[in-house]
Amino acid sequence: MYYIGIDLGTSSAKLLLMEAGGEIKKIVSKEYPLFFPHPGWSEQKPEDWWKAVMEGLKELTEDFDKSLIGGISFGGQMHGLVTLDQEDHVIRPAILWNDGRTQKQTDYLNQVIGKDKLSQYTANIAFAGFTAPKLLWMKEEEPENFARIEKIMLPKDYIAYKLSGVHCTDYSDASGMLLLDVQHKCWSREMIEICHIREEMLPELFESYMSVGNIKREIAEELGFPETVRIVAGAGDNAAAAVGTGTVGDGKCNISLGTSGTIFISSRKFGVDAFNGLHSFDHADGYYHLMGCMLSAASCNKWWMDEIIGTGDYAGEQKQINALGENRVFFLPYLMGERSPHNNPNARGTFIGMTMDTTRADMTQAVLEGVAFAIRDSFEIAKSLGIHMERTKICGGGAKSPLWKKIIANVLGIKVDVIESEEGPGYGGAMLAAVACGEYASVEEAADKLVKVVDTIEPEAELVEKYNKRYKQFAKIYPTLKGVFDEII
Ligand code: XUL
Repeated sequence: MYYIGIDLGTSSAKLLLMEAGGEIKKIVSKEYPLFFPHPGWSEQKPEDWWKAVMEGLKELTEDFDKSLIGGISFGGQMHGLVTLDQEDHVIRPAILWNDGRTQKQTDYLNQVIGKDKLSQYTANIAFAGFTAPKLLWMKEEEPENFARIEKIMLPKDYIAYKLSGVHCTDYSDASGMLLLDVQHKCWSREMIEICHIREEMLPELFESYMSVGNIKREIAEELGFPETVRIVAGAGDNAAAAVGTGTVGDGKCNISLGTSGTIFISSRKFGVDAFNGLHSFDHADGYYHLMGCMLSAASCNKWWMDEIIGTGDYAGEQKQINALGENRVFFLPYLMGERSPHNNPNARGTFIGMTMDTTRADMTQAVLEGVAFAIRDSFEIAKSLGIHMERTKICGGGAKSPLWKKIIANVLGIKVDVIESEEGPGYGGAMLAAVACGEYASVEEAADKLVKVVDTIEPEAELVEKYNKRYKQFAKIYPTLKGVFDEII
């Protein structure tokens, strides 16, 4: 049998066809536009996602026996607000996870409702990219649109809805809405009231590895798929990536270097970071996780390469870097503001420390190191909670760079296990579909059988020492500039 994982990302949809034994047969990528209608805003059209997914499904399966397709599942960009009206029309473009427009509503939630109450209701506080503040924004700024809302959903759930006709979501993705009681796995009545919505507007909740229904007849016909294809709830992209890298069960860690950068720690027990620096969410394996999320990670390098120095030769640029731990140039990677741990949409990207002998390679290095240091900010919070990690997996576009993986290993001082494929969310999605169709008894069993570590990057004591010194310097820059960021926006 074949299983399809759809990674509904921010720059593209990546579709992956996996054979039941785990072999990746084909990967197809379809791009769609990202709109920034105001500084700090970030939107996409759900209709563009749907078009990309349908084209992608056709291309992905054209050379294969379609009667063998068992199920389709997802890893989707999290937190995005998708709203449909009575006729199932998309009301407005989706407001994405890296959109910073809701500072006022986020402050209202954290300061007037209060962080303690939010944490009690949902296990989390408000961050500008979460879904609930976006609902409040829509109510205040677009009351006519708000009044038309019949269905609220997350990006990947729009695709599941179009494919199956079921208004559904899964616990891992729902955790990032600030509407879910994460510990008890149900919608929070208090948050529903605070956001002025009705529970019927929210999707039905499923475990990530559960089938929500079969593919709709007309879609099956259009694609040439059997009507028995199951649509499986799937997960937020980070939880799906964790499945795809075998980060399930207790105390395992995965770092994702995608458009965003995340550090994800799986746990069998529910837990909350009392200082709310890390998110406390449900996991796709049926348990829980803690996560720190930075809004710009591999996207910082892409911006630096494509937009600023104007080259597509990422590997060639990185070859010029030869003095790790010696760089006096620092880069703050806050090109879209920052979530973990600063929770500040006004934070901005910054280079600091250049002199007349600074080279292009020093600045490229600073970008890679700045992202690693920002991940360490969340890693330090995890350590302060008594979580001890010796190793991590890594995935995402940035994980294709051997140099960046080495920097991460030495900045964090832990082993980095490299797995056979970096296709985290897509592979995790396909694994969830396989579990739902009975190929594997549980997500953990699928991870044990399918995920293979092919290499380990060991931290080097001398380099770790150098990076410890540099990290302490890096950690002083944001607090020093914070006031300036608030003034210059
Ligand atoms: C996680 C987050 C991002 C997006 C990126 O909280 O906002 O990782 O899911 O797609």
